[in-house]
Amino acid sequence: MKTMSLDKILQSQGFGTRKWCRQLIADGAVCVGGEPATHYDSVFVPEGLEFAVHDEAWVYRAHVYLALNKPSGYECSRRPGHHPAVLTLLPEQFAWRDVQPVGRLDHDTTGLLLLSDDGAFIHALSSPKRHVPKVYVATTRDPVTPELLAQLRDGVQLHDEPAPLTARARQLDTQRLEIVLEQGKYHQVKRMLAAAGNHCDALCRVAIGGITLDALELAEGAWCHLDPTRLWLINQVHSNTRSMPPAFAAST
Ligand code: URA
Repeated sequence: MKTMSLDKILQSQGFGTRKWCRQLIADGAVCVGGEPATHYDSVFVPEGLEFAVHDEAWVYRAHVYLALNKPSGYECSRRPGHHPAVLTLLPEQFAWRDVQPVGRLDHDTTGLLLLSDDGAFIHALSSPKRHVPKVYVATTRDPVTPELLAQLRDGVQLHDEPAPLTARARQLDTQRLEIVLEQGKYHQVKRMLAAAGNHCDALCRVAIGGITLDALELAEGAWCHLDPTRLWLINQVHSNTRSMPPAFAAST
């Protein structure tokens, strides 16, 4: 089994440079298996290793896969312009290990955001060939009408797109609808609603594939690790999103 020295393990988990990690060990700030670690060159099998830094417990992970319930007022960019970055909602170790959002939500969009430091995972999920449905709940300025739903389903033309974009859509109540997209064009939901003659007042992403915000039970701003069972759910299309009923009448 592959082993690694303690300083390398700490560095790989985002605790800073090798030099800094050696200093943490020298300062007695690191425990492994409940015992203070004294030698930076002690070797361990890293996968699943439980350790603590300044009494905070950690488990080694070769890569991290996270879900965040993004609040409004945070940017997904690493170099945000007007609002704090979503990364500031996570322990700083994740920024050190280059965790990045998988796709982006607008600063005022809330809800499910996946983040990872696994480049292959990010790339695969972001690929347009992957067709992972993303489910949004939009609150509209004007009432949702059967015509609006029909336009979204039949396709609306956005000015910089070569062809009309379609979405599955169903009414939730008078001014809320659920929209499912498989692409992720810039401001897509907001622009589609505007092109269909309404306005998006608030937007929340509630699911990515079979991973739903409800099942994660995350408060706004809270995050969790996604274990392999949950990650697998990305490919499981939630029954709600597989086939949506046609337009609900406004009275239903
Ligand atoms: N569509 C939008 O308009 N904004 C988002 O943040 C996501 C999808």
